[in-house]
Amino acid sequence: MSQYWSPAVRRLTPYVPGEQPRERVIKLNTNENPYPPAPGVGKALREYATDHLRLYPDPSSTALREALAKTLQVESSQVFVGNGSDEVLAFAFQAFFCHGAPLDVPAITYSFYPVYANLYGVELRKHPLNAHWEVDIEALAASTERSGVIFANPNAPTGHAHSLETIEALLKRVTDRVVLVDEAYVDFGAESAVALVDRYPNLLVTGTFSKSRSLAGLRLGYAVGSEELIDGLLRVKDSFNSYPVDSLASVVGIAALNDPEHFEACREYVITTRERTRQRLEALGFEVLPSKANFVLAQHPNYEGAQLFAGLRERGILVRHFNTSALNNFLRITIGTDDEMDSLIEALEAICG
Ligand SMILES: Cc1ncc(COP(=O)(O)O)c(C=O)c1O
Repeated sequence: MSQYWSPAVRRLTPYVPGEQPRERVIKLNTNENPYPPAPGVGKALREYATDHLRLYPDPSSTALREALAKTLQVESSQVFVGNGSDEVLAFAFQAFFCHGAPLDVPAITYSFYPVYANLYGVELRKHPLNAHWEVDIEALAASTERSGVIFANPNAPTGHAHSLETIEALLKRVTDRVVLVDEAYVDFGAESAVALVDRYPNLLVTGTFSKSRSLAGLRLGYAVGSEELIDGLLRVKDSFNSYPVDSLASVVGIAALNDPEHFEACREYVITTRERTRQRLEALGFEVLPSKANFVLAQHPNYEGAQLFAGLRERGILVRHFNTSALNNFLRITIGTDDEMDSLIEALEAICG
């Protein structure tokens, strides 16, 4: 604590991102994509005219929003872009969830939501997952006075995804406030709620280039929703930073969107490797929650999560272990290449052997 910090900063509990190690390890701890971005990304970087860097970027990111709109089959006026979906989520908290009533959220979900809630003074009403480790949509829908609803679909760190039908059932019941569906992992097998934005003006869907587009280092995220929601986000953005997306990031993002074949191939590899990994973990005695994301959450009846985490670390493999009572026994394992997952299984065989 410093005497120079304002009281609000003293009260913060910042998010702690997964480790980014300097030494060479097999990195299965932050849900990055093991495959490179589309070849067009390298070309766009090589051909980028350095002189462009003299100028401020387009504050509206028009070209990138148009490319995203085409990919997602919506209007560009329904698209907002930001510096990673974390920033878009932060803007959404400010724009939509500060109504002085609780925000309905699953008790186990992306751990940045409580951090934003704390930053913006939003009270959370946390709903336990159901017996199958699924987001309890009925509980989210049942509250009356609220500031909004937020959940990830697929959820993190469980990987479970609800169907479009279930999400639409929620939207039919929650009409007064924003329902934010965080689709950071949707491309690995879930159905996107973007298909519903035309019908539900209070639905905001966020997405990212960090996972299925292999661009976590670039920082590009987006939101799709009705024009009134996009205007709300723009009001916050333009009161904070007019240029959250730099001109290089725009060009690279567009290059990634322009290669649907690469995108399809990479996500299919990840899905196939995920299913293969699940079977092999189960053969070792793990319980693996069904996942539609690029990670699995797994626990072993005979070994503690911390013990397995430490054993893997000693063998140069990083996974994510959460120090909370509900998840203490689990490991969240990002899906890497087949070779990386073979090394993981070999290491677990040695530890559990
Ligand atoms: C559920 C969820 N939402 C959003 C994000 C943020 O992604 P980014 O800021 O890289 O777009 C993550 C990152 O891990 C995530 O797990």
